[in-house]
Amino acid sequence: MPVITCIDDLKRLHARRVPRMFYDYAESGSYTEQTFRENVSDFSRIRLRQKVAVDMSNRSVAGSMLGQQVAMPVALAPVGFTGMQSADGEIKAARAAEAFGVPFTLSTMSICSIEDVAAHTTKPFWFQLYVMQDEEFVDNIIERARKAGCSALVLTLDLQILGQRHKDLKNGLSAPPRLTIPNILNMMTKPRWCMGMLGTRRHTFGNIVGHAKGVGDLSSLSSWTNEQFDPKLDWGKIARIRDKWGGKLVLKGVLDEDDARRAADFGADAIVVSNHGGRQLDGALSSIRILPSVVRAVKGQTEIWIDSGIRSGQDILKALAMGADGTMIGRSYIYGLGAMGQAGVSTALEIMRKELDVTMALCGERDVKNLGAHNLLVPKDFE
Ligand code: FNR
Repeated sequence: MPVITCIDDLKRLHARRVPRMFYDYAESGSYTEQTFRENVSDFSRIRLRQKVAVDMSNRSVAGSMLGQQVAMPVALAPVGFTGMQSADGEIKAARAAEAFGVPFTLSTMSICSIEDVAAHTTKPFWFQLYVMQDEEFVDNIIERARKAGCSALVLTLDLQILGQRHKDLKNGLSAPPRLTIPNILNMMTKPRWCMGMLGTRRHTFGNIVGHAKGVGDLSSLSSWTNEQFDPKLDWGKIARIRDKWGGKLVLKGVLDEDDARRAADFGADAIVVSNHGGRQLDGALSSIRILPSVVRAVKGQTEIWIDSGIRSGQDILKALAMGADGTMIGRSYIYGLGAMGQAGVSTALEIMRKELDVTMALCGERDVKNLGAHNLLVPKDFE
C-alpha cells in the first residue's frame, strides 16, 4: 500500500484499481479537453502572499453553506456513475461526507437510488436534478427527494445537450456500460473492484430504472438516457421546478455574470460557478477565471460557490479568498473512492482540510472567513 499524502496519490491508485472505462470516464473532459486542463492549471497561476509573526494557535476552517454548519466550506459535487467507481459508491461517499461534516450531493445519474442513500445515512443530503423531457419523471423524482429528506435541490443547467468525451465513446461507456471483451478482460485485472461489484445488487441507475416511463429494465435505459436531457430547458422550466420543490435551490453551471445576475434575481439560494469539470463547453474559460466577474455582479445577493479544477486545500483557499462562499469537489473525492472506497473519500477530505489549514496559517490568517484579495496575487487576465 503506497503512502498517501496528496490527491494525486489517490488518483494514481484509482487508475490502478478501477477498470479503465470508469477511470477514463472520471478523468476526461469534452473534445480537446482544453477547459478540463485549464481548470487545474489556472489555479496554479494564482499566487499566495506569505505573512509572518502572527499568532496562529487558534485556527478554524469551518464555515457554512446554505445556512448549514460545515467542517470546511466544501461540498461533494454530484457525480454520475459513482457506484461504478466502487460498489455502492454513493452510499460510501455520503457516509464519509456525513462523518466529516460536509454536504454530499447525489446525482440524478447515480447507481444507488435516493432511497438507498437515505436508508444508509443519518443526516439530510442534497439531490442534484437533471431536467428531463418527461415532466412526470421530474415531478416524481422531486417528490422522492423530498420524502427522503433531501435538504437542497441542486439544479444543473449546463447539460441540456451532452458534450462529447472521446474516451467514453471508444471505451463503450454508456448506460449501462458495454461489456465488450476488452472491457471484461480489463475488469478481470481489478480483483478488488470485481469482488465489490459481485457483492452488491446495485448495478444500474437506481433513480431511473423502475421509475421512468418505459424504463423497466436495463435494456431500455440507454435510449432513455440518450434522449431525455431537455434541450428546451429555460427560465420558465426552472421556475416550474423551483415552485414544485419549494425548498433550498442551488443553480449549478453558471459561467457568465449576466446569468449569475439572472439566477440571483430569480431567488437562487446559491449558484455554482462551474463548467461541469470541463466536460461540457470545451473552450470555456476555467471557473476560477470567471469567478471575479461573478463576485462583482452578485456578491451578497446569493451564495457563490465554485467547482471545476479544485485538487488541493490551496485551491480551496484561493477560491475563498477570491470571494467564493463555498466550493464543490468532484474528481478529488472520486479518486479517493476509486482508490480506497469510503476510507478514500475520508482521506481526500482530510488531506484537503490539512492543506487548507496549513496554507491559511502561512498566509497569516486564523479563520477562513477572513480570507480575501489581500492574500493573493491574481493574474491580470482573470475576468
Ligand atoms: C460530473 N459532474 C456532474 N454534475 C452534475 O450536475 N451531475 C452529474 O451527474 C455529474 N456527473 C459527473 C461525472 C463525473 C465523472 C465528473 C468528473 C463530473 C460535474 C461535477 O458535479 C462537478 O461540476 C465537477 O466534477 C467539478 O470539477 P472537478 O472538481 O471534477 O474538477
